[in-house]
Amino acid sequence: MRTVLRILLTFVFVLTAQSEALFAQIGWAKSYQNAVVVTAEKHASKVGKKILQQGGNAVDAAVAVQFALAVTEPRAGNIGGGGFMVLHMADGGTTSLDFRERAPQKATKDMFIKDGEYQPDLSRRSALASGVPGVVDGMIKALERYGNLPLETVMAPAIKLAREGYPLTWLQAQDLNDKAEQFEKYHSSKKYFTKKDGSPYQEGDLFVQKDLANTLDRISRMGRDGFYSGVTADRIINTMDELGGIISYSDLKNYESKWRDPVTTTIKGFNLHIMPPPSSGSIAIAQMLTMLEDYNLKELGYNSAEYVHLVTEVMRRAFADRAHFLGDPDFVNIPQLELLTEKYNQQRMESFNWNKASSSDSISHGDPLQYQESKETTHFSIVDKNGNAVGVTTTLNGSFGNKIAVDGAGFLLNNEMDDFTAQPGEPNMFGLIQGKANAVAPKKRMLSSMSPTIVTKNDTTRMVLGAAGGPRIITATFHNFLNMTVFGMEPQAANSAPRFHHQWMPDKLYYEEFGLSPDTREKLKEWGHTLSATGGVGRAHTIYIDDNGLKYGSPDPRGDGTAEGY
Ligand code: GLY
Repeated sequence: MRTVLRILLTFVFVLTAQSEALFAQIGWAKSYQNAVVVTAEKHASKVGKKILQQGGNAVDAAVAVQFALAVTEPRAGNIGGGGFMVLHMADGGTTSLDFRERAPQKATKDMFIKDGEYQPDLSRRSALASGVPGVVDGMIKALERYGNLPLETVMAPAIKLAREGYPLTWLQAQDLNDKAEQFEKYHSSKKYFTKKDGSPYQEGDLFVQKDLANTLDRISRMGRDGFYSGVTADRIINTMDELGGIISYSDLKNYESKWRDPVTTTIKGFNLHIMPPPSSGSIAIAQMLTMLEDYNLKELGYNSAEYVHLVTEVMRRAFADRAHFLGDPDFVNIPQLELLTEKYNQQRMESFNWNKASSSDSISHGDPLQYQESKETTHFSIVDKNGNAVGVTTTLNGSFGNKIAVDGAGFLLNNEMDDFTAQPGEPNMFGLIQGKANAVAPKKRMLSSMSPTIVTKNDTTRMVLGAAGGPRIITATFHNFLNMTVFGMEPQAANSAPRFHHQWMPDKLYYEEFGLSPDTREKLKEWGHTLSATGGVGRAHTIYIDDNGLKYGSPDPRGDGTAEGY
């Protein structure tokens, strides 16, 4: 009876998610023989497919998609922010590129504190909130190392979309209208992101971005110099000077993205290659999967009270460790090997009680050193006909970043500085309490939850995972992996299934409305969990490749993404 109820609720949830985005383009998993692209926005998905059909590989397509999303998904796709790319090439090489923003050289540990008080307005809604953007450097670096096509070719579709415009979907129009009041505070943002006559955007309005087209054109012709120096740099610095920001010419000139080795963990015969720190997702996901290794999840039953209880406790412990240990590995020593040992994670679960929720106050972080052996972000996934795979997650942090557009350049700046620990004990915009390891310092990268992940078996890509949604990225990615590998869900069912999330602090078990049955919720409350119904837990755009090499692209029904392929 309970199983029937759960299936019914899953179905109700999917329908509800659809009706919330009533006029959105809802894409469903489609399978392709050769190649597939899944992104949060339909024009960007089409751009990726076009580049692949023009002879580009997955990296060419990824760069083209990233620039297209800067035009068609301005709330998160960007050139004024940063992100991460994980790549698994068909020759077996796996690597990752960190193009996360860095703190400006003038940044200081206490820059968001005045008279002893943390000032969230400064870290979220001011020019001081911006880190030095990394996207342009990252895209150029990825293309130089792995791409087949010239920068001008892969950027051409984005420039065309910006110059000629595209019709807004209902959801895109709403997103812009929701932020209109904040855009009006800045003459540049008002000019680019509100209508001249002051009326709200409607579905079908043609959205043209001429200044952005010119900026993209400069980048396509001049490479890095089209953004980090010359006209674009002048315009960024003018914006900083006008609004009290601290990004300097030297910050821009010296920005560098970095190749890093992914964190790899093996679970159930699958190798998960996950973006390493400054992404926290890799260590958190690997820890959570390791903590669960001794439990028979299938026997507990998908989203049963026992399953939700166990998985919540695992999340609580991993996020407590995240808060304490993680930060930019170029600045802090992360006990990565120790955090990932089986022994440490088993020890973390010693306090787990089947009949009682732990309290986050009592959990805190562990002591891994005793085992010295060892609505905001966007994610897209691409696999090409040769089996090269790319997962990219990129962000401005808040939806439309700090809402400040660079005048004359047409793009928005990030408010990523809020991802640092502004003051220990104070929550950031995602409610995350973080530690000293993630304190602000010049040139340091702020800790992230973005977790692009490539799953391989025998060196062949089987999944490309990742999501948008702040810390919920970590749990959404983790749920998708478990749903497919433990519960045998087909890719779209796995991606549509209701999710839940716990991030240690605040001590709340967030669950998607209708995602847990009433009897399950009752039991969880009896065991001491504080439940909180929430909107979507992440938006994941995933790829699954079956034993015959058929590629399934699965957009998340919580957004209006699409899959394209051939
Ligand atoms: N800005 C959200 C994240 O990187 O986690």
